[in-house]
Amino acid sequence: MTAAFQQCIWPDCGATYDVGQILTSCPECGSLLDVRYDWDRIAVPDSLSQFESRWSDRLDPLNFSGVWRFRELLNFADDEQIVTIGEGQTVLQKNDAVAALCQMKPSRLYLQYEGLNPSGSFKDNGMTAASTHARIVGAKITACASTGNTSASLAIYAGVSGLFRCIVFVGSGKIAYGKLSQALDYGARTLQIRGDFDDALARVREICANHPVYLCNSVNPFRLEGQKTIMYRILEGLGWEVPDWIVVPGGNLGNSSAFGKAFLELKQLGLIDRIPRLAIINAAGASTLDELVNEHGLLWNDGQTDRNAVGTFYTDMDSSGARASTLASAIEINRPVNLEKALRAIDACNGVVRSVSDQEIIDCRALIAAHGFGCEPASGATIAGVRLLREEGLIAADDRVACVLTGHQLKDPDLTVAYHTDNPELHAKKLHPAGVTQTPYANAPIVVDNDVDTIVAAMGLSD
Ligand code: F0G
Repeated sequence: MTAAFQQCIWPDCGATYDVGQILTSCPECGSLLDVRYDWDRIAVPDSLSQFESRWSDRLDPLNFSGVWRFRELLNFADDEQIVTIGEGQTVLQKNDAVAALCQMKPSRLYLQYEGLNPSGSFKDNGMTAASTHARIVGAKITACASTGNTSASLAIYAGVSGLFRCIVFVGSGKIAYGKLSQALDYGARTLQIRGDFDDALARVREICANHPVYLCNSVNPFRLEGQKTIMYRILEGLGWEVPDWIVVPGGNLGNSSAFGKAFLELKQLGLIDRIPRLAIINAAGASTLDELVNEHGLLWNDGQTDRNAVGTFYTDMDSSGARASTLASAIEINRPVNLEKALRAIDACNGVVRSVSDQEIIDCRALIAAHGFGCEPASGATIAGVRLLREEGLIAADDRVACVLTGHQLKDPDLTVAYHTDNPELHAKKLHPAGVTQTPYANAPIVVDNDVDTIVAAMGLSD
């Protein structure tokens, strides 16, 4: 018998369900669900450092996985049920150059580059867990809505494991080509819905509620269990010391929710003595969380979140015709589905929420890339957020800050090339509509005639 169960996050309800049930909201009250554990029945190590011994036994695929080598902390599956493709081989790396750009002292800023996952984004941490649960419940068809990375991730797990088919829903014209190409390559049936991500998610949820299709978006509580391990690897990278800050971009708020849960559990288990602060960074063009928290004062409030305020906010959003719009297409989301879990995480982690403009996002993306960490625009928001919080004095120059870079540079090469090139048409098409009017870190390609002397001159040998 497993020691795991599902539980409604709303304290007034708190209904519990078996791990074998396929649920993405509480059947009693409609709230989100957590996966929870009867910890007394799990052999959790006495100290986090005990997980290190798994490194020496990496021929075992469960120890090789950067998710499942922490399996006692997401203990909902038997070993033989686990679906892994070697995800989570990511380690925390210090970057003093980026620290300097953020006015931070050396050795204080660290990057957790999740672009090195098999499908090139952090999503694989969650999808290995969702795929495992899909296997436990015998799902034959899986689906997700996606701004691109979730679909790439689900597609690779379905393709490689061969355990289930997958159908991905993406907003029409809303997906970066790097991501679309992955879903196609990995063999997913790919539906381009005429609408945006929120439309695609609403449709896929409707369909999964009425058909035998297993939903792999982050409303799936099992997915978020896998994403907790990003925090375990950050702690590991710091010799199991707790950083002062975790900084992460916020879209559907699955990561922020998972991170908060990870720290709450570690604290409850006595495996850490304090919880770091969490900074969630929205794009200014998709800033629902920022507005709700900072302008409307929305709080977790022990689970008594002001749901009417959220409802009114969304009604106003719809009636004014406002739609999310940002070059960081991964986080172009109007109604973050994990809102309440993210509020809980903010509460647990003394968190803050900020928004940064597309100009800041895209400049920071170029700067991080120039220092060796090619990432996609959403990750640029992380560093833009650190810079903002440094300016505000909230992050101190010698705080220890762990920044999550969520996706790989090659996910969205069109935007990178548009930034670097000095082609006015490309700028007008790709950058200006988002308010990006300057490209201070551009490195434009040089067109030269097919002639040695001209080429040598263009090589800058005499510069
Ligand atoms: N960064 C990247 C690269 C993403 O792909 C996403 C989400 C986020 C950040 C936001 O993470 O939702 O946990 O707050 N992408 C989703 C997708 C929505 O469909 O691939 P979050």
